[in-house]
Amino acid sequence: MQAEQKWSTRVEVDLSALGHNFKQVRQLVGRKRKILAVVKADAYGHGAIQVSRELIAAGAYMLAVATAAEGIRLRQAGIEVPVLVLLGLLDSSPKQLMRHDLTPVVYTASSAEKLDEAARQAGKRIKVHVELDTGMGRLGFPWKPGLEIIQRVMGLTGLEIEGLFTHFAEADAQDKSFTKLQLSRFEGLAARLKDRGIEIPLLHAANSAAIIDFYPAYFNLVRPGIMLYGIMPDEALRPKLTLKPVMRVKTKIIQLKKVPAGHSISYGRTYITSAESVIATLPIGYAAGYSRALSNRGRALIGGVRVPVVGRVCMDMSLVDVTHLPEVKVGDEVLLWGDNDTGFLSLGEVAAWADTIAYELLCSVGRSLPRLYYRQGKLVEVQAP
Ligand SMILES: Cc1ncc(COP(=O)(O)O)c(C=O)c1O
Repeated sequence: MQAEQKWSTRVEVDLSALGHNFKQVRQLVGRKRKILAVVKADAYGHGAIQVSRELIAAGAYMLAVATAAEGIRLRQAGIEVPVLVLLGLLDSSPKQLMRHDLTPVVYTASSAEKLDEAARQAGKRIKVHVELDTGMGRLGFPWKPGLEIIQRVMGLTGLEIEGLFTHFAEADAQDKSFTKLQLSRFEGLAARLKDRGIEIPLLHAANSAAIIDFYPAYFNLVRPGIMLYGIMPDEALRPKLTLKPVMRVKTKIIQLKKVPAGHSISYGRTYITSAESVIATLPIGYAAGYSRALSNRGRALIGGVRVPVVGRVCMDMSLVDVTHLPEVKVGDEVLLWGDNDTGFLSLGEVAAWADTIAYELLCSVGRSLPRLYYRQGKLVEVQAP
């Protein structure tokens, strides 16, 4: 049976679009800067192994994952480029990191010391990137005593500081004043290090929003995530470049039912038909990441026409009103987001209906469903969930 028929509800990943988006990053940052592709959370739900292979072929220098376990999966798949582990030592050991040649982020003195001790015992030096918190308020050493901390970490002979980086809290905002403040804190520290003769090979700060809209933050390496997957970090940035959506999600109608006016639909009876209606059942629900917040708010696309989600999204089913589409039949394709031959439904719009962001829907749906990979429109790989 053909994969498209076997999997009625599926994610389709367009590897050609991924390559296109990588080229857009390259065009913005120029040939000399290194690109670290963020492939954490199974490449934002697109499949870390397939995505990493494609991006390495396109020229990615390094990858970033959240945990060592994610990094080990990449190594086991034969991926050899440098891999940055953003959560550092969490849930892993220095030995494990060294065995798999993973580069941990260091954000606490105790993890630096643990790594140092293990590296010296093994007669090695372990490469690390040091994270500075310049205003994100998440991981990282606070920037103020940053100089002393970095000097202390540099004194640990088992460690080699290959990178120093920070992460922006709102580079996607049109008002860049806080991003500029974060940048000045980061640059200030880098300059003071330089004054003391300390040169860290890789400095980095730019996520997708900064890559598109804040070039002073490029340094010599950039860290795109969401833009590689074809999503604009903010709608206002859309005129700046053309990204191609990489993921589309498809399902099909499994039942059609004509119901009278006054008929209630789904749990809690939150939707009552106002006239005779035709309701279609779709085999996807919140168990596969199709958010329950889309109940009575979402839209899907059938033959290029929008149909409203009616009633509550259930665990593995949802309902749409197709009264205005007399031609539809059981088995017809339904697009939940992305594009097909008949039209396009933007994930940004779907996310707004669900009161969330594209990142969350990509991760939750992408990781739950079978994924079919396409290059130049041809199916090249299938990954069962
Ligand atoms: C440290 C770090 N750098 C870069 C990124 C990529 O961000 P974006 O997907 O907005 O490009 C992330 C993602 O959250 C991150 O945590």
